[in-house]
Amino acid sequence: MTIFKHTAGALVILLLVTASCSGTQSGDFAVSPLPQEIDLRDGAPFVFGRRTAICAPEALRTIAVLLADDLEEATGRRPKVSDTKGNIILSTDVEYPAEGYRIDCSKDRIAITGGSAKGVFYGTQTLYKALPVSFKGSAALPAAVVEDAPEYPYRGFMIDVGRHFFPVDYLEELIDIMALHNINVFHWHLTEDQGWRIPVPGYPKLTEVGSYRPGTIIEPGSTQYDTIPVQGFYTREEMEHLVRYAADRQITVIPEIDMPGHMLAALASYPEFGCTGGPYEVTGRFGVFADVLCPGKDATLEFARAVLKEVMEIFPSEYIHLGGDECPKERWKECPDCQARIRKLGLKDMPGKTKENQLQTWFMGQMQKYLEENGRKMMGWDEVLEGTPNEDVTVCAWTSPAAIYRSASEGHPTVACPIQHLYFSNRRFNELTGRESIGRVYGLDIVPPQLSPDQRQNIIGAEACIWTEWVADTEKMEWEMLPRIAALSELQWGSERDLDAFLPRLRKMTELYDRRGWNWKKDIAEAWEQTP
Ligand code: ACM
Ligand code: ZN
Repeated sequence: MTIFKHTAGALVILLLVTASCSGTQSGDFAVSPLPQEIDLRDGAPFVFGRRTAICAPEALRTIAVLLADDLEEATGRRPKVSDTKGNIILSTDVEYPAEGYRIDCSKDRIAITGGSAKGVFYGTQTLYKALPVSFKGSAALPAAVVEDAPEYPYRGFMIDVGRHFFPVDYLEELIDIMALHNINVFHWHLTEDQGWRIPVPGYPKLTEVGSYRPGTIIEPGSTQYDTIPVQGFYTREEMEHLVRYAADRQITVIPEIDMPGHMLAALASYPEFGCTGGPYEVTGRFGVFADVLCPGKDATLEFARAVLKEVMEIFPSEYIHLGGDECPKERWKECPDCQARIRKLGLKDMPGKTKENQLQTWFMGQMQKYLEENGRKMMGWDEVLEGTPNEDVTVCAWTSPAAIYRSASEGHPTVACPIQHLYFSNRRFNELTGRESIGRVYGLDIVPPQLSPDQRQNIIGAEACIWTEWVADTEKMEWEMLPRIAALSELQWGSERDLDAFLPRLRKMTELYDRRGWNWKKDIAEAWEQTP
């Protein structure tokens, strides 16, 4: 038995050992994200052929069928799936970490054992990605044992469907991309100043008015509008369908209703929930807007709870994201209802926290309480730290790497998503090409070194975000996601990171993207030439 560490040299040896066997083309297990351990064994490879079949107990049937789909795409032959016979054997063993797995590959069989269905699923993803992308004759995999488990439990990807609308059948494809990269959270940003995408019983104008805008500014900073309407919302059935589709791929959908800021579409529908009473409009401009929900009015809280009630009925996720970002306080300072609420609550200006900051904390706290009464937990963007939220609030630290430190050191479970590294829609960073473009994601250390060992435990994972102000179509969406999502997946999974060793794995991923017809950011290919 040879144990290979994840060095460039080891990968070369692995390729040499497994490269050829007459009439077959062997793949290798050094996929992306790179598994923790790959031990090559003596012996002949497993060759995929007519007798290849998948054996899985009923509880793993969905995963087995998805694997059959993948193997059909990769090898041209669809394996049978049954619970009695087969040479690709799926099973669970609680001795493994829940999301971990072991692949034991030999001439006669491939056994994938996971700590739970999740682990089995990640084993099947590694198997699929390990296969050669193009070959003559038969595809094969080398005799080997792979042992793997992720470092972080939260491996997220966020997509904003407020600025531009993407239908559910396309979101399924994006879920497929996420699943291929072992991502386990789809953070669905459902409401924005520019569009409201979820119907709520009792508030029909949210979709009648709030899901439509007549046009959009033609370029950043412009005051000129196009005349292309942007509209759309998801039916409850569509959202429930997407939750199931994602769950089959071991992905939890975490919905976000961004409050109390970024609410212009809701205010255009129901002006009575704003401080001034409007009129407001669903905007075709981008930025941060002064008009936000009025927490001084009881009706606003009743409205927000009605939205969350519907959200909790549709989405079974433990976490519900309540936003909390970019909420200017100027209207609250002038609003008699907000000021009356501040007086009633006895809120006072404190160093670094105005009474309006604390009003936001109170409002978010009311919503948090409502979620918790219903057995859920609150997530928010790092501006929620401007108040004094309790430690149960999970924070998506986006404004800077320093915000990751602040959130984790103040005791919050923390998801790292700093704009400087993980906003794939950032226009400045999208100008980067080759190694620089990939390195900006791949080189991020999501655990600030100043954190104590205890505080480090608060970093639960990382997430990349695509904001869709300037993403109006699927081509641009995929261009922003791919292939940087592969770099993201390695830091989320905790793969040993070495950019030079990663680039060949990344290149293979781009061949897979081509096979699937996905539009990846081609200028990143410069990186292959830049590899020493
Ligand atoms: C954000 O980018 N406003 C969370
Ligand atoms: Zn107000």
